[in-house]
Amino acid sequence: MKEDLRGFDNHGYPEGWFGIGWSSDFLDGQPVQRRLFGEDIVFYRGASGKLIAMGAYCPHQGAALAVGGKVEGDCIRCPFHGWAWDADGNNADVPYSARGRVGVRNKTWTVEEVADHVFIWNSWRDEGPRWEIPDIDFLQDPQMFWNPVDSTRTWLNARLVPQMVTENIVDFSHIKYVHLAESDSELEKFGAQDHVFSVVLRQVFRTRKGPVVGRDHIEAHGVGINIARMKFLNYEITNLLNVVPVDASHSEMRVTIGIKLPDDLDVPERASDLPGHFQRAIKAHLDSQDQDMPIWENQIYRANVPWAPEEARAGRALRKWAHSLYESYDGKPEVTT
Ligand code: FES
Ligand SMILES: [Fe+2]
Repeated sequence: MKEDLRGFDNHGYPEGWFGIGWSSDFLDGQPVQRRLFGEDIVFYRGASGKLIAMGAYCPHQGAALAVGGKVEGDCIRCPFHGWAWDADGNNADVPYSARGRVGVRNKTWTVEEVADHVFIWNSWRDEGPRWEIPDIDFLQDPQMFWNPVDSTRTWLNARLVPQMVTENIVDFSHIKYVHLAESDSELEKFGAQDHVFSVVLRQVFRTRKGPVVGRDHIEAHGVGINIARMKFLNYEITNLLNVVPVDASHSEMRVTIGIKLPDDLDVPERASDLPGHFQRAIKAHLDSQDQDMPIWENQIYRANVPWAPEEARAGRALRKWAHSLYESYDGKPEVTT
């Protein structure tokens, strides 16, 4: 792993929903172990179809449940001494004991699947989700083209924290330099409401037919999920960007690009059957995150930014909002930047 991120001033892991992949990443009967929020977690799909997440190591003697564990109903049976754990993490069976089971629990996480995307709730609080997963039903529109093979990209163990990606949504001045926009971009609106920070960004794109103005409507739902929607020429393009912490300095990032095609166009199975300009639009949006990545992975985090006057209000507002998503916020004065 790359060196730790220096200077980040929020401690612990932010509260919220975090996208961790696509439903097709989690196959029946095949438990997988992932490291998220500094913890090792086993995911498996129970017989009911429900995706279950619990501590990766058996509470008995610590075997890794993903390595040889067997899914039985909605339980997972440990490969070491055969103890079974149910979907709530309760011990369900000690096969060789007259007591049948013991009163021991494994930690569990809330996992939901929406539009073939998988989300996990993280919080330091010992309670269920405090808000809903954002509405991404637009991905299920019959005129929407997207699929996990052709219109997504994944970065594992990127040296960044989710908040850095979210800070990008108000950072209008980087677009010309990092994303090679035609001219300066403008932040037309921004504001926080509860766990959502919304932005309207005016951008001028380079296309083969010359510069085109687009308005990007972006919502950050916590610091884990960013949804950007833009109407462009005769179609609408959406960018669902999910970032989840692996540890204090590293994250996984995944993007799904969806294109809502005009009504008179059949939606093909594969991107290669789309008209060329739609294929190029998908690639441009996927590549756009690769343009940010070397900046994020190599920068240090300046907790005290010498803001230019034009960027100060939005930059401060976003950081103040993000700060409220961390445990360190409870009962403590806000950090001013
Ligand atoms: S370590 Fe899992 S049953 Fe013993
Ligand atoms: Fe960017």
